[in-house]
Amino acid sequence: MPRAFAEIAFTPSVVAAQERYGSRRANHGFTLAAEAGNRLGAAESAFIAERDSFYQATVSQDGWPYVQHRGGPPGFLRVLDPGTLAYADFRGNRQYLSVGNLNADDRLTLILVDYANQRRLKIWGRARLVHADQDAALLARLALPGYSARVERGVVIAVAAFDWNCPQHITPRYTLAEVEALASPLVEENRRLKARLADLAAPG
Ligand SMILES: Cc1cc2nc3c(=O)[nH]c(=O)nc-3n(C[C@H](O)[C@H](O)[C@H](O)COP(=O)(O)O)c2cc1C
Repeated sequence: MPRAFAEIAFTPSVVAAQERYGSRRANHGFTLAAEAGNRLGAAESAFIAERDSFYQATVSQDGWPYVQHRGGPPGFLRVLDPGTLAYADFRGNRQYLSVGNLNADDRLTLILVDYANQRRLKIWGRARLVHADQDAALLARLALPGYSARVERGVVIAVAAFDWNCPQHITPRYTLAEVEALASPLVEENRRLKARLADLAAPG
């Protein structure tokens, strides 16, 4: 069975490049996989739930790629079911490049990166834009209480394929919360040592 991502991404010009650079045989394995790789499982769901951002590529009406960042609290990109993702799209610079592109061509690709653990996941899909007057319940489900952003619409993504990437060339980076979690035992030890020093220095 071919991997769904290979069916999408291995276009004739990509296959020609694989032939030219000698990786056609290695990549042929993706056409003989056990699973298509288009149903999000436990590993993908857990990974997505931890992400606080991703990059989203869309296609303009005349074929230019367009990539933009989407961010929010961890888990703002929701797995609604194994074939569906959704997120609340916030008001931004009001150029509406991504949503305008999606209105003409619903295809998108996401890349989600876990810098600290050097993992990344690519997802291909087709997007549907949902406004509050169309499905208030869905928008309520995507809402992020306490997060300061105005939700303009929901973006619902029918997952067409996904593929995990290797960790190469991902420089580990840490969010403030991750740094605090890593540093907290040292901070605590420092506090205890300072208290002990103060005790030792105290007269009597
Ligand atoms: C007031 C304001 C100004 C912004 N200016 C820019 C900008 O100049 N360039 C940019 O890439 N994003 C800018 N942003 C962030 C984008 O609006 C935001 O990432 C939005 O989701 C982009 O939508 P798009 O995917 O349609 O480009 C701005 C946001 C706000 C609220």
